[in-house]
Amino acid sequence: MRQQLEEIRKNAEAALKAANLLEELDAARVKYLGKKGELTAVLKQMGSLSAEERPIIGQVANEVREYIQNEIDARVAELKAAQQEAQLAFETIDVTLPGEGVEVGHRHPLSIVLDEVKEIFQGMGFDIISGPEVELDYYNFEALNIPKDHPARDTQDTFYITDNILLRTQTSPCQIRAMEERKPPLRVISPGRVYRSDAVDATHSPLFHQIEGLVVDEGITMSDLKGTLDTLAKKLYGPETKTRFRPHHFPFTEPSCEVDVSCFKCGGVGCSMCKGEGWVEILGAGMVHPKVLKNGGIDPEKYSGFAFGLGLERLVMFRFGLDDMRMLYENDVRFLEQF
Ligand code: DAH
Repeated sequence: MRQQLEEIRKNAEAALKAANLLEELDAARVKYLGKKGELTAVLKQMGSLSAEERPIIGQVANEVREYIQNEIDARVAELKAAQQEAQLAFETIDVTLPGEGVEVGHRHPLSIVLDEVKEIFQGMGFDIISGPEVELDYYNFEALNIPKDHPARDTQDTFYITDNILLRTQTSPCQIRAMEERKPPLRVISPGRVYRSDAVDATHSPLFHQIEGLVVDEGITMSDLKGTLDTLAKKLYGPETKTRFRPHHFPFTEPSCEVDVSCFKCGGVGCSMCKGEGWVEILGAGMVHPKVLKNGGIDPEKYSGFAFGLGLERLVMFRFGLDDMRMLYENDVRFLEQF
């Protein structure tokens, strides 16, 4: 029996050394010390021993039990400590490492300038509205007094979807929509995308942006137009900026003009930006044609108004000294992160 006990001890010792998981140690506890365990089985045979042998074997059995119990406890403690250490190592933060930089995006130059323009007009009491990019021929052309045989209506310039539906070639259709939806006094700008069937080059793109402006009220005159656009030019390019109004033709305004600003790079002396002119053209404008007012449901006998159309890309290119419009659309991060 002593031999049996020694055997159990030896086996248990080996098994516990080999155990690397808490579950294995639990299993060992059941196997050796449990109610149906090997040690218990031996102890059950104690009755067959002589009176002298019993205390001796009993003592050995107790030693073996104690040994196994202690061994298991020690191994459990060891494994738990190792587990905790691994967990701590895993969660260690090296506070001396440099931080991970957070990349902050940049606003697109088109958005920067558009926001400025919006703010300038909001400061003058204008509302900001928008119109559909897929537009009816009626709003894009007909209602703006652009006749059927006008060259702008050529399929070479306009993306037609059907005979009656097209991608708007200008933001001017917003003038008619604004007049239909609102009553004078009316002061709105309407920025947005416009489309023309143009090949891409340094100054052309089939998609670009315009900002339309419209003011209608009683007694609006050309001096209101001049004052408004002069304010825009000075706010955009500085208080020294001068404006120049040249006669022009647009079907939806009468009279019509093109507006130049004194070159903000050379101050009007002449440079590469203004091609030696001292002036750069920034927009088209005019007094709203009576027919256009009528088409918008407004009585031209009672009301008058002015309108203007700005090309946003042009403004952005002047503003940041860009010589190629394509940079605005190519999404090259090396370009965009400069703003
Ligand atoms: N829609 C014109 C264009 O695309 C720009 C324009 C000129 C708009 C004169 C206007 C205006 O409102 O009065 O060329």
